[in-house]
Amino acid sequence: MADQPVATNIVRAEGHVSSADREALLGQTAKTLWFTGLSGSGKSTLAFAVEQALIASGRACYVLDGDNVRFGLNRDLGFSPEDRTENIRRIGEVCRLFNDAGLIVLTAFISPYRADRDLVRALHPQGSFVEVFVDTPLEVCEARDVKGLYAKARAGEITEFSGISAPYEAPRDPELVVDTSQPLEACVAAVIAAL
Ligand code: ADX
Repeated sequence: MADQPVATNIVRAEGHVSSADREALLGQTAKTLWFTGLSGSGKSTLAFAVEQALIASGRACYVLDGDNVRFGLNRDLGFSPEDRTENIRRIGEVCRLFNDAGLIVLTAFISPYRADRDLVRALHPQGSFVEVFVDTPLEVCEARDVKGLYAKARAGEITEFSGISAPYEAPRDPELVVDTSQPLEACVAAVIAAL
């Protein structure tokens, strides 16, 4: 995917309301909380629990979840390296739009490639991208196998499965590492403290 738009003869349109105006209306600072980790690591569970806690404390937020987004916006994408990169690029742009709308966005995508995550980080103003590594070891994810996908991947019924037959590049310097061997409430509290 080219860095520049394919379209020519396009000009940016300016509205009359700034993102700061929208943040002021909502009484919050827009952020992206980017959860990354293996399939079954607990990204979605944690993101939805944090969303619930934030909404309860009067924050406007929204979860973008990998599986869910692949039913709609990204239904044309599979799991090749190129498709995963495009998946994350689009989600990065959606985060930018949601942040511009003043929202706190929580994302739950494996996002296995460091370079892809760093590109999303670069789309954000300094300090508004919070990378959260959901650090559940492969053995634990595989033992849980909530969706039965690890068994299928081991049996060769799913190819290019993250952690088994496709890479997962753990973050080197995330804002937060969550140890999911602790109770969910403790994980939620750690994420909210990091905000
Ligand atoms: S990502 O790698 O492109 O970031 P994403 O988070 O959107 O992945 O989707 C991952 C989810 O798709 C997994 O939780 C799992 O339910 C499902 N899935 C299906 N096939 C694969 C695969 N080959 N690798 C990883 N996840 C897969």
